[in-house]
Amino acid sequence: MTELSVSVLSADLANLADECSRAVAAGADMLHFDVMDGHFVPNITYGAPVLKCLKKAVPDIFYDVHLMISDPERYVQDFAAAGADLLTFHLEAVPGREEQTIRAIRDSGCRVGASIRPGTPVQALVPYLDQLDLVLLMSVEPGFGGQAFLPETVDRLAVLKAECERRGLSPRIQVDGGINQTTAPLCTAAGASVLVMGSAFFGAADPAALAKSIREL
Ligand code: DX5
Ligand code: ZN
Repeated sequence: MTELSVSVLSADLANLADECSRAVAAGADMLHFDVMDGHFVPNITYGAPVLKCLKKAVPDIFYDVHLMISDPERYVQDFAAAGADLLTFHLEAVPGREEQTIRAIRDSGCRVGASIRPGTPVQALVPYLDQLDLVLLMSVEPGFGGQAFLPETVDRLAVLKAECERRGLSPRIQVDGGINQTTAPLCTAAGASVLVMGSAFFGAADPAALAKSIREL
């Protein structure tokens, strides 16, 4: 079974709680909360205070928080206290502080995820695989929803999956960006186990049917 993490970024943000309840009712396994700081990526979204309110309004769902920010370690406590279940940081944001960042997230009680941009070699993740609950391969340049899936992601997923199998490790393998009914099966066939979906989900005529078809992959 494949897990579906619905990206809140494409929701009607003026009705965030309703939109998230709708995603949960439609069958989302997780809500994907994209935090952008206008520095690590050229866009600004929302932070821990918004997550805290959302968690209160929609409590019974796994909060998958994707930190696209320059100094993730500094905000780990805030997001953990706000209700994050998983915190995913970007390796490119913490050169030389990878292990410390992993430890800080672990110590906060959250699951630990690490992500790389499309241009970063998959090998960059390899030294940390045994310390991670989730690895996230970006299939678009992080920063905006609604972009087209980068096809080279399929080979990158296969390389990552093969390395996990070779080492007997089974972190969740997540892919994020441009996922829809066409690209989703390519990703799961290559080894992805969690698919992030934003614009395709909120633009769907029948989100429950879409969620069902994704989770059955
Ligand atoms: C992009 C974000 C994604 C985005 C995905 O930087 O990390 O989570 O919301 O949106 P879609 O599914 O529209 O590509
Ligand atoms: Zn994301």
